[in-house]
Amino acid sequence: MQAINFAARRKRLMQWMGPNSIAILPAASEKVRSRDVNYPYRQDSDFWYLTGFNEPEAVVVLIPNRKHGEFILFNREKDPMQETWHGKRLGQEGAMGYLAADDAFPITDIDDILPGLMEGKERIYFELGVNPEFDQQILEWRNQLSQPQNKSVARPGEMIDLKHHLHEMRLIKTQAEIQRMRFAANASAKAHKALMSACAAGKSEADMEAELLYHYAKNACRNAAYPSIVAAGDNANILHYIENDSALKDGELLLVDAGCEFEYYASDISRTIPISGQYTEPQAQLYDLVLKAQLAAIEMVKPGNHWNDIHDKAVEVITQGLIELKILKGSLKDNLAKETYKEFYMHKTGHWLGLDVHDVGDYQVHGQSRLLEAGMVLTVEPGIYISKSNRKVAKKWRGIGIRIEDDVVVTKKGYDILSKAVPKCRDEIERWMQQTA
Ligand code: GLY
Ligand code: MN
Ligand code: MN
Repeated sequence: MQAINFAARRKRLMQWMGPNSIAILPAASEKVRSRDVNYPYRQDSDFWYLTGFNEPEAVVVLIPNRKHGEFILFNREKDPMQETWHGKRLGQEGAMGYLAADDAFPITDIDDILPGLMEGKERIYFELGVNPEFDQQILEWRNQLSQPQNKSVARPGEMIDLKHHLHEMRLIKTQAEIQRMRFAANASAKAHKALMSACAAGKSEADMEAELLYHYAKNACRNAAYPSIVAAGDNANILHYIENDSALKDGELLLVDAGCEFEYYASDISRTIPISGQYTEPQAQLYDLVLKAQLAAIEMVKPGNHWNDIHDKAVEVITQGLIELKILKGSLKDNLAKETYKEFYMHKTGHWLGLDVHDVGDYQVHGQSRLLEAGMVLTVEPGIYISKSNRKVAKKWRGIGIRIEDDVVVTKKGYDILSKAVPKCRDEIERWMQQTA
């Protein structure tokens, strides 16, 4: 696997910032789960993107053209007692060695050092509005330069938001990033396939979630990229269902929306499988419709097409199909104009995917749906959801929720599906479940 070139990212960002400027970004803070127990720590994706550093209580500072080095890190000092209890720390020497920081200082010294680094700069770049306490802190460091004893010192006059440009950089993935996303998708594929093999009535949604987590970890991806959605029967009609505590029943579907992370890069895959190993007739009809919409939507993924083309195609196929199944009445044109599909398909067909599962990057440029470019990675995930309590449709359709989701890279000529190792057609799924049961 190619190494991630963190230095090249910092260099690109600093070229954009220009001279006489400084960028300041904090690490994610630890979050309490209960009393003195924290959630497992996850670095902020922007901070990781620029540093590859996975500790809390750190601040990265970038100063283009600084004589003594452009990449400065404030981080925790080494502390044998803390490290015995809570784990290793890189310390300042480690930051200069492993992370190639030009300078590293203890985070406890930041109030003394950072104002001096701002001196004479015209612009401060930071992520405005993300962390109000940190915004305030930046103002305080800047204001220290206007204290009477610092009268002759020039302080930055402009505060500029860093997010937009940084997120545009993150939107286009390099080969090294795509390799990691492919690895995550392949590990998730193994987990989805193991779940399909283990699926049986009498087990629970939690049993199935356990299959996912076990196989992520066995395949070098310890963390889920988001809480797994394992939704049997009518639970699938709750889009972000994560209780995962119901029993699996013959005759019902199981919607599984789950993906792991590899070296911070996410995968996000959905399959909807028959608990008995065989789809019923109404389930099969709706499944084939969602699949047809998904395949047609994926065909829209190519450079030069618009982001919205993907969703528009899925909506068109689903609306036409719902008319043919007599779930909707009237013409395609009227139904599209009235957006009647929204009762059954209420979310968008996808999102950017990367270091965050709902990754960063604009979907519109100058008010227009964005053009797709090689290196973008997105999900394609249409669905149909018919709640058990929906009395407007024939009884046979009620309690069915289906979503099919793949991770797709925009290539120079079209697309590449990272998650293609997970069975997707009905007979492929049925065969796999029966063969391995
Ligand atoms: N797993 C959340 C989503 O598909 O967007
Ligand atoms: Mn998903
Ligand atoms: Mn998704």
